[in-house]
Amino acid sequence: MKRVGIIGVGEYLPKRILTNADLEKMVDTSDEWITTRTGIKERHLAAKDEATSDLATKAAKEALKDARVNPKDLDLIIVATITPDMQFPATATFVQANLGAKKAICFDISAACAGFIYGICVAQQFIARDTCRNALVIGAEVLSSITDWKDRNTCVLFGDGAGACVMAEVKSGGILSTYLGSDGTKTDLLNLPAGGSRLPATPKTLKERMHYLKMQGNEVFKIAVTSMVGAGQEALKRAGLKCGDVNWIIPHQANSRIINAMAKRLGFVNAQVYLNIAKCGNMSSASTATALCEAVKEGKIKKGDIVLIDAFGAGLVWGAVIIKW
Ligand code: UT7
Repeated sequence: MKRVGIIGVGEYLPKRILTNADLEKMVDTSDEWITTRTGIKERHLAAKDEATSDLATKAAKEALKDARVNPKDLDLIIVATITPDMQFPATATFVQANLGAKKAICFDISAACAGFIYGICVAQQFIARDTCRNALVIGAEVLSSITDWKDRNTCVLFGDGAGACVMAEVKSGGILSTYLGSDGTKTDLLNLPAGGSRLPATPKTLKERMHYLKMQGNEVFKIAVTSMVGAGQEALKRAGLKCGDVNWIIPHQANSRIINAMAKRLGFVNAQVYLNIAKCGNMSSASTATALCEAVKEGKIKKGDIVLIDAFGAGLVWGAVIIKW
């Protein structure tokens, strides 16, 4: 099988910023509660006329430029999102049209906060087996469109953004191991109840605010830690590596307490954890995608570094990937 790696990264964060102080005026909350319970200080919100594919396209253009790949030469576009432009067609097809990437195969992945990792794993298979020469994998969300701005339990947590990477065959380094997992018995913990075939939109579903994200935060918190620890351990085992070999962890940015607990339990002493949660909040699939991009662009991740990307989300789904940069 071919050795596959990431050859370019990009991100886009919408201009508008909503601070904790702004939220204090909207619901019964405080900067102190949000900061100590989550680590979030502010988040970016998409403009009214910005859809997920718009954010995705901007991140994609930056990643393609970084990778020096012409959109016309792209073979595959995967968008990981839970906030697609429309229920169908795939958001990836809107991105394709925006980029003029006429040759690319396009589809979306619904794996919530682990979506970017799922996308990387799928793209790796396409490239390693010679189905495609390259792939654009994007994690993009406009979570503000499914956030209940009257529910203080959830509205303080989320933000909008997009991160992208271009993947191709590499001569050295690249993906060392991957691990994905799912548990469909806990779909009730985190979901968006209405608007699908189970509960199509009616005046009643609208009135009952069923078109917004619902989460049992406490339960999700506990499982998030164990799942991310398990995913990290399995990916390390598959790569034949130990915690001490890892230079950077790019975790899903749902809650700084989850991230601290996970890093501690995994026993990371040397590795550094990259965080963008304070300025971005939880952006689901876009969290690991943007954090990876920022860590590279800031010169933190250097050639030869071992990077562990580790995430968990609704489904439940989880996954980890280890890449030698
Ligand atoms: O990305 C996908 C995965 N998502 C996650 O991993 C999220 C996991 N969950 C979490 O991060 C945390 O559970 C939350 C940040 C959502 C909540 O933190 P918590 O420490 O689990 O708080 P809690 O839900 O147990 O609530 C504690 C108290 C409650 O008050 P009472 O019942 O003790 O009086 C809540 O009503 O905090 C209250 N509360 C708030 N207070 C001020 C909940 N939200 C707020 C708020 N401001 N925004």
